[in-house]
Amino acid sequence: MQRETVLIIGANGQIGTALLPRLRDQFGSSNVIAADLRKPANDSGLFTLLDATQPEALTEVVRRYRITQIYHLAAILSAKGESDPIGSWNLNMQTLLNVLEVSRLHNIRKVFVPSSIAAFGEHAPKYDTPQNAYLDPTTVYGISKVAAENWSMYYHKRYGLDIRSLRYPGVISYESMPGGGTTDYAVAIYHAAVQGQSFDCFLNADTRLPMIYMDDALRATLELMDAPAEQISVRTSYNLAGMSFTPAEQTASIQAHFPDFVTYYKPDFRQAIAESWPKTIDDSVARQDWGWKPAFDLSRMTQEMISNLTAVYQPLVSIP
Ligand code: NAD
Ligand code: SER
Repeated sequence: MQRETVLIIGANGQIGTALLPRLRDQFGSSNVIAADLRKPANDSGLFTLLDATQPEALTEVVRRYRITQIYHLAAILSAKGESDPIGSWNLNMQTLLNVLEVSRLHNIRKVFVPSSIAAFGEHAPKYDTPQNAYLDPTTVYGISKVAAENWSMYYHKRYGLDIRSLRYPGVISYESMPGGGTTDYAVAIYHAAVQGQSFDCFLNADTRLPMIYMDDALRATLELMDAPAEQISVRTSYNLAGMSFTPAEQTASIQAHFPDFVTYYKPDFRQAIAESWPKTIDDSVARQDWGWKPAFDLSRMTQEMISNLTAVYQPLVSIP
């Protein structure tokens, strides 16, 4: 069997932080190289500083470590992207095109490039949004994801690149904070609750969005990447569902643990972004092709988030 050497670009982000140990478990620590613009706070594994907008720098890393697989996670997300549309487009597209080209030129065996529910817009059905719904996103982030899906398909068809993708819902995790998305409230709410604080939510109480617990998101990623190529019928990006809930429902699930917890609703510009996205996702193609099935619902996720964040905050809280 060929030895795999895996590069994760954007390894210090919300998903990279949680994915890195899983890939090290799978491939061995000496075969996984983390790369990002800045050094990780607490990680002593193999790491290289990399600005993936620079093709020569990316090529040098791929050559130096004899990379065979790339997980490309660097991006500017939906909310942050709106503060600098052209800069966000340039970063999202330049890093993607560099990854595609280096993969083509250096015979990279497998590439993972995530998409998002942000690829959908006004003309997609809001409930059970199907795999092949019309894509007319309202954010520059969503536009860059639709473009990335099409570039991925192009490199697969034209060059035979084995590139795979998931349209992640909002990802919820305790390992690190999210990096500027519209679903970030659904992580921050747990941090407030565990610290005994009330929470100011930037979305309305009844804004339903598709979400997924990190454990499920990582399992989906690794299952997709492990699936035999002939089972992958979608080379743009697979719809992926975990759960769907509103801030009010999430608050109620937290109140089952902290009855005095209160959320105040103060919607801002992110409300319009959230309203342009699906409320529930039909992921039947992923289920059929490679057997996807989520394990976490809202109440199980809330229990895990509270238990893990309590372990994070308790030592801090108990210091006199
Ligand atoms: P994040 O913002 O938390 O992390 C992105 C990382 O990329 C950061 O550590 C950043 O320093 C790094 N980065 C930025 N520019 C870079 C560059 N030029 N070179 C190298 N590194 C660079 O993002 P995330 O939440 O971990 O998301 C990872 C991927 O998953 C993105 O493509 C995102 O669009 C997608 N996604 C995430 C979610 C979610 O809810 N987190 C949902 C849907 C899709
Ligand atoms: N969680 C992401 C965001 O809100 C979805 O891609 O931007």
